[in-house]
Amino acid sequence: MNTLQKTVYFPVIILAGALVYAQASAVEEKPAASETRAKAIDTSAQAASNHPDIPEGVSCNDCHEVKYDANTTATQVWLTGDTPGKKAGEGVMPKEKIWQEFTSMIGAKTKTKTFILATCLNNEPLSTTAEFSLDPKNRVLYGLHEMGTEKLNHVKNNPKVSLNWHKDFDSFADFRCCQIKGHAVLIDNTNPEFATAVKDFLPYEKSVRLPPDATDTQKQNAYKARRDMLKKGNFVVMKIAIDRITMANSAFAREGFRVYQRWVP
Ligand code: HEC
Repeated sequence: MNTLQKTVYFPVIILAGALVYAQASAVEEKPAASETRAKAIDTSAQAASNHPDIPEGVSCNDCHEVKYDANTTATQVWLTGDTPGKKAGEGVMPKEKIWQEFTSMIGAKTKTKTFILATCLNNEPLSTTAEFSLDPKNRVLYGLHEMGTEKLNHVKNNPKVSLNWHKDFDSFADFRCCQIKGHAVLIDNTNPEFATAVKDFLPYEKSVRLPPDATDTQKQNAYKARRDMLKKGNFVVMKIAIDRITMANSAFAREGFRVYQRWVP
């Protein structure tokens, strides 16, 4: 290196070195949020003023595991706490009875209900009206859906779902609803469970038009043709394993139970 090169290069090298050092020490002193594993927080946690920057569009659970125990005070009081007319712990149904009440509220096969299904992808919630049928033995819900819709894309990427069914409210003397949390899988028509779900649980017969005088054989043939059509068509079955049910039913009070009951497997 000649003198000219030295005078040009050395300061550049020193400057570059200083920059690298400065950057390294900046990282050490103030870790970038994405490089530190954030601790689990609960739903009531608040970010303090010295909290690492939260970029726009990013939510708490992108970095922290948020512990949703849903033992929120109000819900807990209604379920088991001290409320007017009920001392703490009184009026809670036995687990099996809650399940029976749920199956009679929701019903299977021809008693299939229309739910609101909530899905979530990248912190963008979506609610969709959809029919679901109960398999009371395996404690799962089945729905039949046309492929290529937004909710299916959500479920493929994030299986956590929530559903709600309610009877239209008309008075405080008669209200009924249930909220479900679960996780969903999609079953395509190459899976044998597709045909079983349709045949045994979904009320597909309702979509078959029959003359009033149809014989039993005619009915069975028409039903089979519809099942074959569904199997060949552009459909997918959504199966939802139930993780939690919270029900409200004014009729529970008439038996001395709390109006709100919760079932977990
Ligand atoms: C971009 C990632 C990121 C996002 C988004 C984020 N945090 Fe944090 N948070 C961190 C990091 C990193 C820390 C420091 C490490 C730690 O203590 O968990 C932290 C620390 C905390 C702490 C202190 C934890 C403790 O026990 O010391 C709380 C409380 C907290 N965050 C709450 C929130 C809340 C509430 C939100 C949503 C409004 C949120 N954070 C969003 C990354 C994030």
